[in-house]
Amino acid sequence: MLNSETAERLLTANPPERARAEAAIADTQQAIKHAAEIIQHLKKLLKRRPEPALQEFDLNEAIADAVRMLSPEAAKRGIALCAKGIQQPLPVKADRIHIQQVLLNLATNGMDAISDCAAEAHAITIRTALAKDSRVEVSVSDTGTGIPGRDLSQVFDTFYTTKKEGTGLGLSIVRTIVENYGGQVSAENRIEGGAIFRFTLPLLRPA
Ligand SMILES: Nc1ncnc2c1ncn2[C@@H]1O[C@H](COP(=O)(O)OP(=O)(O)OP(=O)(O)O)[C@@H](O)[C@H]1O
Ligand SMILES: [Mg+2]
Repeated sequence: MLNSETAERLLTANPPERARAEAAIADTQQAIKHAAEIIQHLKKLLKRRPEPALQEFDLNEAIADAVRMLSPEAAKRGIALCAKGIQQPLPVKADRIHIQQVLLNLATNGMDAISDCAAEAHAITIRTALAKDSRVEVSVSDTGTGIPGRDLSQVFDTFYTTKKEGTGLGLSIVRTIVENYGGQVSAENRIEGGAIFRFTLPLLRPA
């Protein structure tokens, strides 16, 4: 939108700035292509799973699955990935694939932030803790760059990205999923460096 407005302004200027307008139109086309790709991708995702498959499962198991899935990539990038916290079963009711997606999106962001960071010993920790009102809190912390900017909550906005190849959908999807199951998400920078994302889910039975 911004690019097309710029093009309009350049063309209606006196004299018109044709070359710069053409560049702005090229940028507009590029952005439209990118948006179309994102929409195609979303449509495919939605088609694949029309109905959420609600099931009761142990959140610890979903976390263990996510760790298994992410381990090869973490190892490749020299990142220690581990799960800590509550050992007893944490029964939740959700579409397991959705919760998996939340964990993958958060951990992938953590790995990206670490890849941009020069420091040495790198880790991502997924930790469970009991929260009030018989909820479980899951935190995903990393030792990366930390979240840029002053307004940390903007990272959850749809299409907000600071990455060259990012869609800016990862955290927006995380928030939609978590809120859909009655939970909440938040983001913080850690004093020691890196970021920590937390989300809560209601427990089916108090642990
Ligand atoms: N762990 C993190 N550390 C630092 N910054 C982060 C972290 N997680 C997210 N961010 C910031 O929030 C932005 C939005 O994240 P989000 O996952 O929504 O999109 P993305 O990662 O940029 O793109 P995609 O998820 O499509 O790859 C990121 O571009 C980055 O600037
Ligand atoms: Mg992401």
